[in-house]
Amino acid sequence: MVSYQQWFIPLLKSTKWITFTKKSMYAILKSLHSFWAILVFITLIYAILNAIKGRFSNQEFVQKDLRLSLFGLIFSHTQLLIGLFLYFVSPWFDQWSAIGMGVMKNTESRLYLVEHPIVNILAIIFITIGWSLHKRQSSSARKFNRISLFYGLGLLLLLSRIPWDSWI
Ligand code: HEM
Repeated sequence: MVSYQQWFIPLLKSTKWITFTKKSMYAILKSLHSFWAILVFITLIYAILNAIKGRFSNQEFVQKDLRLSLFGLIFSHTQLLIGLFLYFVSPWFDQWSAIGMGVMKNTESRLYLVEHPIVNILAIIFITIGWSLHKRQSSSARKFNRISLFYGLGLLLLLSRIPWDSWI
């Protein structure tokens, strides 16, 4: 009888298995990242418009405003996490070992491997700063200002480095 060591251990060691797992992980993460981007944009735009409206109509910063801003923060942080995992399983990542710094000379690989991740991490840092600063303010107007300004800057940065051609 064939013992499980005779097929299971070679299967685990086989590079075909690793390639298969990596490919399916890539397909799942790419679809998730692509779909989640829509949620990120909806929640951020909603939070920004709500903050601008609240500021200009001199409203109190209430529970609803806090929740809307929190949604923007949570959805963008989740996207950051998905993006980090996607980065290492994406075929783009293999370009680092294939052409090294040649990545920087090609517009497409530079966008996927350098500009998109760095600028988006920066955007999420802005959004996080906006969230932290709004909590330290005592007046509603200042809270709305912090959210609209920092979330707005974050959104502009995100929009500047989306690979539009492959997404839409
Ligand atoms: C809120 C932040 C982010 C947004 C809104 C966003 C959005 C997107 C969108 C719309 C695409 C195109 C997907 C498609 O072609 O179907 C994409 C691709 C990609 N993103 Fe992001 N992303 C974000 C953050 C990140 C971060 C932080 C990383 C890595 C550290 C990352 C890594 C990637 C990679 C590697 C691809 C290319 C996948 C491929 O085609 O192989 N993303 N992103």
